[in-house]
Amino acid sequence: MKDFSWECRTKVEFGKGCVKEHLAHLVEEFALPGRSIMIGYGGGSVKRNGAYDDVISVLESLGYSRAGDPEEGRQIIEFPGIMSNPTLGKMKEGAGLASQMNVGLIIGIGGGSVMDCCKAISVQAGYDGDAWEDFWIQGKPMTHKVIPCGVVVTMPATGSEVNGCAVLTNEETHIKTDRDYPEMNPLFALMDPSYTLTMPLRQLRAGTFDILSHIMETYFSYPVEDNPADDVAEGLMRGLIRDFRAAVEDPAAYPARSNIMWAASLAENRIIKTGKTKDFQAHNMEHQLSAYTDCNHGEGLAVLHPVYYRHICKDGLGKFMRFADRVWGLDREEYNSDEAFALAGIEELGSFIKEIGLPTTLRELGFGKEEYELLPEIAESCFISQGAFRPLTKEEILEIYKECW
Ligand code: NZQ
Ligand code: ZN
Repeated sequence: MKDFSWECRTKVEFGKGCVKEHLAHLVEEFALPGRSIMIGYGGGSVKRNGAYDDVISVLESLGYSRAGDPEEGRQIIEFPGIMSNPTLGKMKEGAGLASQMNVGLIIGIGGGSVMDCCKAISVQAGYDGDAWEDFWIQGKPMTHKVIPCGVVVTMPATGSEVNGCAVLTNEETHIKTDRDYPEMNPLFALMDPSYTLTMPLRQLRAGTFDILSHIMETYFSYPVEDNPADDVAEGLMRGLIRDFRAAVEDPAAYPARSNIMWAASLAENRIIKTGKTKDFQAHNMEHQLSAYTDCNHGEGLAVLHPVYYRHICKDGLGKFMRFADRVWGLDREEYNSDEAFALAGIEELGSFIKEIGLPTTLRELGFGKEEYELLPEIAESCFISQGAFRPLTKEEILEIYKECW
């Protein structure tokens, strides 16, 4: 294993009714006294699944109000309209509002986009410089005090609730990238699976595939020898595949929904990353597709993964064989070579993606001639992972995109 340090400062409260039960004491513990609270959310789903009303009623019971005076604190400042694939512009708008309104706690209510944007706002609002340039681009150490931030999760996918990662899109330069700072871990995460029941099936599929992708991106990296992180990852993958099938078959099934919600967090709270080099090349390729076309993150990953894995299969042969065996239950005896066995595991992944109803080509993602012509520029803009079994070239990334067509 590689040497590592592990930390996860987020306090999690999981279960039905957890906002009503726990938000008040979390606000008392973490909100800066005498200041206002900002709630960030997206296009309105939180008003249909009950999360927004639950948060407001708890804040009002603590004496916060939407009509309050910001000078006196205890005002509720609303920051709606955080879009999927949040932009740098939206983050800066929120940071400006948080500074102007004397905000001492930010609560993001929603999926990964809302959580990421709110985490980034908490960094920028307390900072004199340009946070995007200093942290997302240059990766400088974060030494300033970030505004406390907590989240209420309504869509399981990114695991943003338990890590310090925030993905932003610079809409001017077409760069979509993440940074992971322990200072950006939410201070608390409230996770009520019943909020997720209003998710459209398309989001359920995309988000759940994103979880599987996070596990695979970590699993398919060095070291290749047996290690605890990969042991945990295999169990998580098997369970997630089971729950994914159950949730698509019966979207109202609470046990599958709650399992998926916690699996998203276990995949991204850094436990399965301990001692691993971590690949995330599929994510880098998807992020740039999204930066240029605003495509859906989980759907983009579903298209890319099998094709990418066929390219690097020989470079991580032992691990791909282990995947075929321990995740898909295939039998080495039935294949005439190690490579055929490893490839069969990747084929199982491809069949599963089809079975679940996710897109398998860029055209199914809605790409047309215009997007096709952009592919060389998108490939050129991709970051190359240094944690992969083999670093790709920009030429090979373009080949992969074209094979996904
Ligand atoms: O905007 P609203 O109305 O809230 O609707 C959202 C949005 O349209 C909707 N939604 C969320 N919860 C719902 C719901 N609809 C009905 N019922 C509910 N309970 O779902 C749509 C998608 O939401 P979004 O937050 O965009 O999805 P996701 O959680 O997949 O987040 C995607 C973003 O996270 C980044 C992605 O790149 C993308 O920008 N990522 C963040 C990571 C991290 N912080 O660790 C890692 C990931 O790999 C990923 O890159
Ligand atoms: Zn992801």
